[in-house]
Amino acid sequence: MDRILDIVEHYTPGRTLRRLGTSMSIIHRGKPFQWQRKHLLGLRDLSVEEITHILDTAKGFEEISTRSVKKAPPLRGKVVVNLFFEDSTRTRNSFTLAANRLSADVIEFTQKTSSVSKGETLLDTARNLEAMGIDIVVIRHNAAGAPTLLSRNIKACVVNAGDGFCEHPTQGLLDVYTIRQMKGSLEGLKIAIVGDIAHSRVARSDMWAMTKLGAEVTFVGPPTLMPAEVGRLPVKVSYNLDKVIEEVDVINMLRIQFERLGGSPFPSTREYSRYFGLTAERMQRAKPDILVMHPGPINRGLEIESEVADGRNSVILRQVANGLAVRMAVLFLVNQAAAETTG
Ligand code: CP
Repeated sequence: MDRILDIVEHYTPGRTLRRLGTSMSIIHRGKPFQWQRKHLLGLRDLSVEEITHILDTAKGFEEISTRSVKKAPPLRGKVVVNLFFEDSTRTRNSFTLAANRLSADVIEFTQKTSSVSKGETLLDTARNLEAMGIDIVVIRHNAAGAPTLLSRNIKACVVNAGDGFCEHPTQGLLDVYTIRQMKGSLEGLKIAIVGDIAHSRVARSDMWAMTKLGAEVTFVGPPTLMPAEVGRLPVKVSYNLDKVIEEVDVINMLRIQFERLGGSPFPSTREYSRYFGLTAERMQRAKPDILVMHPGPINRGLEIESEVADGRNSVILRQVANGLAVRMAVLFLVNQAAAETTG
């Protein structure tokens, strides 16, 4: 990992890119690997090597956050736009901090205070920002496919920060990064993803990343919160958390996305907690070293009891901390791939 840091420290955008690109190769299974994507749109199409490369690059970036001056130069002179059409605490601030740590300038776009409220389209918004000279767009949008649309119509790199029910790739990456950090590897682990699967882009990105890295994933929840296509996905399905809790190494509790629900998918929140909530009582039947995860924001007392969310098995805040290194790696890699194609 020292090698990655050394390269990052001495990286000057636009100079000797090809040589640096070659230096940035990390050896995977005895072969050098070169990252080539200038967009990160989802994890579904990524290879095991690509996912591993992002995780290894992120590991190299962890050290920067421990310094007294938490900065490195690789995105100096570059402009990153946070183009958020939905609210966010973790993802937006984490991308902002990641871009700052890599010395980029950051534009914060928020739908509510923009000309979108006057009828401006997504593409017109992006093209106008691009006219100001931007290099990377980080986009969150309630429409699945919005990041892909953007990537086909602008020259800048595009990073998906969550699109509809489709994908949230950096959340999937920080989740597998956290599991790898705590358990060493995902190979052979049993992982339950519990709750509102139907409306969860996190569940989908997690599923792709976790299964590619060798874990067995079970979606758990009421039938009303399972996606229609669940039978075609590489997961097991269970409607009974009590049957699953004793077996799993990792449990990822999802938020009920009330803002996306048309009607109520369960009779009452009390009944939901009783059957699908992660309670202290249920935790007594779990493996002693089970990892408790949640992407946030948490509905305390609904999908997870506070005692468990803040308990000794919880890695929820560790997930947030790891998101920074993962997002630094993603910004670094897409920028490097863009420089390679134009350099
Ligand atoms: N996990 C997640 O996407 O959180 P935010 O909505 O706060 O970004």
